[in-house]
Amino acid sequence: MLNFARGRSQARPNRSMPIAVMEYADPKRKSNMFGKLLMAAALTALCIIMLKLSPSFSTPTHFSRHEKGVTHVLVTGGAGYIGSHAALRLLKESYRVTIVDNLSRGNIGAVKVLQELFPEPGKLQFIYADLGDPNAVDKIFSENAFDAVIHFAAVAYVGESTTDPLKYYHNITSNTLMVLKSMAAHGVGTLIYSSTCATYGEPEKMPITEETPQASCKTWINA
Ligand SMILES: NC(=O)c1ccc[n+]([C@@H]2O[C@H](COP(=O)([O-])OP(=O)(O)OC[C@H]3O[C@@H](n4cnc5c(N)ncnc54)[C@H](O)[C@@H]3O)[C@@H](O)[C@H]2O)c1
Repeated sequence: MLNFARGRSQARPNRSMPIAVMEYADPKRKSNMFGKLLMAAALTALCIIMLKLSPSFSTPTHFSRHEKGVTHVLVTGGAGYIGSHAALRLLKESYRVTIVDNLSRGNIGAVKVLQELFPEPGKLQFIYADLGDPNAVDKIFSENAFDAVIHFAAVAYVGESTTDPLKYYHNITSNTLMVLKSMAAHGVGTLIYSSTCATYGEPEKMPITEETPQASCKTWINA
């Protein structure tokens, strides 16, 4: 036989006990809570710092946003001979200019002169980068709002192009495709491409026009 009486005879737990415990200000619990809050604040601060340091998080600059009435031109190879003169002309005509150059052949001195002539914020910035590096090119286009590109970055010696043609295919053909790909991805629709009149050799008739026949130097023409 089951003994029901035994169960009933046991003292019932005091139901009001948990409430009494909650109301009691436990200093250990309080300090636990404070520790948790402190930890949460520290983690939030850490996240903010990491976000700020991350390449995809950058404070907007003149160069990173389109501005009404201002045309922002990316001048590749702008530390070089033709590129630096083109940049000077653009700056004089109130364009916003970003020069990208790996300084393999160009001269940083030319960029410094331009920076001294046009020190106002949002006029000129120089980015040291190689157009053969897809991540660098993509980063440049992601972080800047270009309206147009003038593409001068190249290797441009006729003799060298025949002795080291792969260098020319790589730096001219392949790197130009990289620039075009980034332009398309970031909606930049205007390109001025600096070719070379060397492809025409020594023409019989001047001036050189689009109809002038190309000379027979194959590397120049192909690259
Ligand atoms: N010099 C001329 O008379 C002339 C005339 C017409 C057209 N062009 C053409 O204009 C272009 C530039 O000629 P230039 O005489 O100014 O040459 P340059 O060597 O003085 O300038 C080329 C610039 O491009 C940079 N560069 C090269 N490869 C790069 C890369 N992978 N990434 C980033 N920067 C890079 C170099 O450091 C250099 O500053 C060439 O395509 C050339 O054929 C030159």
